[in-house]
Amino acid sequence: MSEKLCVIILAAGLGTRMKSDRAKVLHELNGKSMIEYVVETARTVAGDNVVVVVGHQAEEVKNASGSGIRFALQEEQNGTGHAAMCAVPQVSDGTETIIILCGDVPLLRVETLKKMYEKHLEEKRDATVLAVEFEDSTGYGRIIKDEKGNLVGIVEEADASLEQKRIKTVNSGIYCVYKSFLIDALEKVDSDNAQNEYYLTDIIGIGHAQKKSMGVFESDDADQVVGINSKKDLDEAENLLIGRIKNKS
Ligand code: UD1
Ligand code: MG
Repeated sequence: MSEKLCVIILAAGLGTRMKSDRAKVLHELNGKSMIEYVVETARTVAGDNVVVVVGHQAEEVKNASGSGIRFALQEEQNGTGHAAMCAVPQVSDGTETIIILCGDVPLLRVETLKKMYEKHLEEKRDATVLAVEFEDSTGYGRIIKDEKGNLVGIVEEADASLEQKRIKTVNSGIYCVYKSFLIDALEKVDSDNAQNEYYLTDIIGIGHAQKKSMGVFESDDADQVVGINSKKDLDEAENLLIGRIKNKS
């Protein structure tokens, strides 16, 4: 869409909850690995300006991702914030906006991504989070808003209070961010949380505290952002995909 746009795909994790030795993003849906779907989506909006963060089975994940794009190695999986930080040196100089995708969210629709990106530019935001509502939001980061409905942060399941766990609006793991804001905010992310990880989600709270412009883009199509963390999730996503192909939607 623009040469000033770069997509980072986070794909270094093993995916412990998959209970497999294979890197999570190499698992297949309808004969194609998760990472292939995500790279395809990324290329549609950013052409070759794509950086995939690899770690577990790095060579296999690189091969599945294809050629012409760039890769960043995250040697130790210290969290999504750390993964994004590893990608930054590979982001091309002219880049103004970065879209971050998760390698384990393969059903995302390109139209949604384009609409989110347009809205992000239109509102001149520093960060926009793609969110959806799930009847059962277990396992996802919860979107925290103030009484006026402004986005103030994202809280992970492991760190959420009982009240926060009742929130049904969740983080899809997909973001549009202004490059210089991302770099600045990532430097401030720490690992002081229940999982001792550097959470990418913390950039939202950091931005809010700095009075930066943070926003949510909410989609009605929640199925497209199911995150695949277990074999059960994989089966469910495959069924959704097959349904989509049958309905040609
Ligand atoms: C993440 C989000 C959560 C969101 C959910 C959506 C954080 C802290 N949490 O949680 O708010 O609701 O996605 O699906 O970001 N990865 C790396 N390196 C790492 C860790 C992860 O590359 O060190 C990659 C994984 O390979 C995966 C993606 O990042 O593709 C997301 O990681 P995952 O562990 O699945 O995060 P969730 O717990 O699902
Ligand atoms: Mg996940």
